Amino acid sequence: MKISVIGCGYLGAVHASAMAELGHEVVGIDVDDAKISALSEGRTPFFEPGLPEVLTSALASGRLRFSTDIAEAAGAEVHFLAVGTPQQKGSYAADLTYVDAAVTALLPHLDAGDLVVGKSTVPVGTAARLAALIAESGSGASLAWNPEFLREGFAVQDTISPDRLVYGVAAGIAGERSVVQLNEIYATAIAAETPLVVTDFATAELVKVAANAFLATKISFINAMSEIAEVSGADVTQLADAIGYDARIGRRFLNAGVGFGGGCLPKDIRAFTARAEELGRGDSVAFLKEVDSINLRRRQRVVDLTVEGLGRPIFNAKVAVLGLSFKPHSDDVRDSPALDVAVQLRGLGADVVATDPQAIENARVRHPQLSYSSDIEETLRGAAAVVLVTEWPVFKSIDPTWAATLVETKTIIDGRNTLNAAEWRAAGWTYYGLGRP
Ligand code: UDX
Repeated sequence: MKISVIGCGYLGAVHASAMAELGHEVVGIDVDDAKISALSEGRTPFFEPGLPEVLTSALASGRLRFSTDIAEAAGAEVHFLAVGTPQQKGSYAADLTYVDAAVTALLPHLDAGDLVVGKSTVPVGTAARLAALIAESGSGASLAWNPEFLREGFAVQDTISPDRLVYGVAAGIAGERSVVQLNEIYATAIAAETPLVVTDFATAELVKVAANAFLATKISFINAMSEIAEVSGADVTQLADAIGYDARIGRRFLNAGVGFGGGCLPKDIRAFTARAEELGRGDSVAFLKEVDSINLRRRQRVVDLTVEGLGRPIFNAKVAVLGLSFKPHSDDVRDSPALDVAVQLRGLGADVVATDPQAIENARVRHPQLSYSSDIEETLRGAAAVVLVTEWPVFKSIDPTWAATLVETKTIIDGRNTLNAAEWRAAGWTYYGLGRP
């Protein structure tokens, strides 16, 4: 099928490349010149494992191209909206400027029978509003909402082999036609018997925010248990294992630590709260504010443990921070707990040196006041405390005996409960975990 993908960020660039890889003819469109030039030359503007290979192969096949000109979308039958919906400044609500701008720009290029497919995460009610806008334009095009559940770090795999497909479609013939078009787009996943939910716009929009709200709640639940473990002497990691054996609970997303961040979970739960309040049901999701607070308290806890563990005034003390991205296998520092901890420690006067396998450049742009090093040895040398805040494999495999020879004081704060505490202690370290004795 001929497809356009409007917005070529983490979501759109992956979607465009993956769709071309699956055999569709794709044009990716973005207003950012630099991004489009990079993608056209086969360079990915962000770190995503597997994407460079798929991008290069799709470009070589001739089925994928990129442009800054929205007019290039003309002639495509399906148009994916993959622009960002960040948190509004000074509010919890989602900023829909980019979604609205993309649809408005696309309208003159739509033909009868075209399908506009929303992938961006939006407040419930947005799809109905956009569908009305498309209908008013008189083009004869329709709208569907097809939320995206990809995880950064596994984005290519999640796009090519999703664990489920959700189509929010209009009622009647238009909706039936949308299903046929989407089934053709996702023919490979459909053939693999991927579970499919065909529903209305509102449900499709809500599925996405509900999924992210659930995941965020699960993480904050275990982090709340972590807080209780800290005042009762229990071990939250063993608690998570024990409750996780119950198949109804499950062990995944029960890792207590410095908490969640990234471009989705934090802003999605906030936008959900704001939308529920607009709808007069703020009380239904009021607990999400608590989920957010628990999450942010964990960052403070890591800072407090560091101050405590230093055993000397923090001013001018060298603190080695291992990790900047919001999770491993990503260079994304949006709302990153790791970067937040580094910034807070610097604010307290620490001489912070931070390292990360991929995220240093993104962190530097936002926080040039921090010192960065791409070398773990240099980061650790002379440190009065070491703080691990992103569980990259390369940090997990640091030999505590070797690290002990580099630092000034053998104090480690494991903000992801990812190190082998016994091994670190045996090598002479004072080890602090979160929610662990
Ligand atoms: C998330 C959703 O998982 C995905 O389905 C959606 O499409 C977009 O948002 P992503 O932002 O890539 O994906 O990250 P995810 O893997 O969900 O992790 C989110 C955050 O939670 C990370 O900061 C991670 O470190 C943290 N986390 C995750 C925990 O603190 N504990 C856990 O047990 C799991």
